[in-house]
Amino acid sequence: MAPKTSTDRTTARLVVLISGNGRNLQAILDAVTAGALPAEVVRVISNRGTARGLEKARRAGVPTRVLRPRDYPDRAAYDAALADTIAAESPDIVALAGFMRILDSAFVQRFAGKLVNIHPSLLPRHRGLDTHGRALAAGDERHGASVHYVTEDLDAGPCLIQGSLRVADDETPDSLAERVMTRVEQRIYPQALAWIAEGRATWDDGRIRFDGRPLETPIHVDCDPD
Ligand code: GAR
Repeated sequence: MAPKTSTDRTTARLVVLISGNGRNLQAILDAVTAGALPAEVVRVISNRGTARGLEKARRAGVPTRVLRPRDYPDRAAYDAALADTIAAESPDIVALAGFMRILDSAFVQRFAGKLVNIHPSLLPRHRGLDTHGRALAAGDERHGASVHYVTEDLDAGPCLIQGSLRVADDETPDSLAERVMTRVEQRIYPQALAWIAEGRATWDDGRIRFDGRPLETPIHVDCDPD
């Protein structure tokens, strides 16, 4: 099925923004290769030249671009240049995959309804950083990740899907981060992007529609081992 925002394409044009390891990017690339995500990753952009995800993109034959903040006078100039670089790809979807910068409101407005993010917590719990340590400190029994549309409020846009798992008794922030990455994030992000690419999930001026109906609560996936 063609993406909602496109009239004459059979696959969605996807731009992915990264800052680091790119394990979510790899899951996205693998889903495309497997035919589970009807999209083409047309460009990967990083704010850091050392991001290991850039190598993952190159291995998959995806063009990359590095835009370094220090090459721009201020945040507004950087975000405008980043937005122009993305817009040049005519994307249907812009996926933040561990892109560790806050984007200004002009940027968010320009890509409204196309801009999605994965966040390593069960939003609205634990917005911001150190989500795994904070989940443990709070004694959360379940923890996970959320894919949400990006709005001007940090980590507060509507969630499309959340995946969760039970926090183990002997859990550390690192073990939890690893399990959330492999069991939750790498599963729910390709799934969310597939729903958007297929036109099953759509953005309706601040609200998500799923299969044509308003999505009242995020779709939830239980990611505990069988
Ligand atoms: C992921 O855990 C992602 O959810 C998180 O950064 C990591 C990136 O890993 N994103 C955020 O915290 C955004 N606020 P990756 O580069 O290996 O995909």
